[in-house]
Amino acid sequence: MKNTVLTLQKQKEEHDKIVMVTAYDYTTAKIMDEAGVNTILVGDSLGMVMLGYEDTLSVTMEDMIHHTAAVSRGAKDAFVVADMPFMSYQTSVYDAVVNAGRLMKEGRANAVKLEGGVEFAPHIEAIVKASIPVVAHIGLTPQSVNAFGGFKVQGKDVEAAKKLLADAKAVEAAGACMVVMECVPAKLAAKISEELTIPTIGIGAGAGCDGQVLVYQDLLAMYGDFRPKFVKVFANVGEVMREGVKAYIKETKEGTFPGEEHCFKIDDSVIDKLY
Ligand code: KIV
Ligand code: NA
Repeated sequence: MKNTVLTLQKQKEEHDKIVMVTAYDYTTAKIMDEAGVNTILVGDSLGMVMLGYEDTLSVTMEDMIHHTAAVSRGAKDAFVVADMPFMSYQTSVYDAVVNAGRLMKEGRANAVKLEGGVEFAPHIEAIVKASIPVVAHIGLTPQSVNAFGGFKVQGKDVEAAKKLLADAKAVEAAGACMVVMECVPAKLAAKISEELTIPTIGIGAGAGCDGQVLVYQDLLAMYGDFRPKFVKVFANVGEVMREGVKAYIKETKEGTFPGEEHCFKIDDSVIDKLY
């Protein structure tokens, strides 16, 4: 059954945790969908894990549309959320609506996600008015890495904690259907999750959130450049891939691959008549 804004909201009410994972292509989306995740995020983390940039700032609308369309073709039941890339919504409310629309029309997403709280409430409201569900993202917002001066935990002192709560309330009031909280102290995230009526999805925000999200290359140990504290490795797929490719190299060098069962046959008489 297709996950929707209604089923996700119902999950919060029934204390049934929402599971979100990233994907950036058709094959991976299909595997995640078949495994049974509720929602797939086409994150702008694709800039780092798929394209090899050191942060998410270089990701374009074209990148996001291209990957979102691929994921949407593979996601039968999962609710597909597409990240709005850096500078696709910060510039104006108008740009936010136009670019959110492109992710829905060309990428066939089910919702868009943007980074920001109080300051971006007008953008969220305008997109929602266009009948496009919005997932907000507060706390550590990686598109602001230069403004933050690095990737660090958010909301630790009273002032910062108050701001985070205000951000959460503002995005809910603006009509967001969910909110991602990244690198937020667990007790604060739990408190915000209780206060909000919309589902909260945590990443580095503790078990008190209504759901969790992880970048799949992190949870499957495929991306070694950087591993944040909040990542748990659930399966060592990176190692399985390396072993598989090593076995392919070995058998190719030995000449044991391809075997007879992998070859196409031809009648000897055809070969005999070649010359
Ligand atoms: O881009 C991304 O993958 C994200 C998640 C880490 C929440 O925004
Ligand atoms: Na993101």
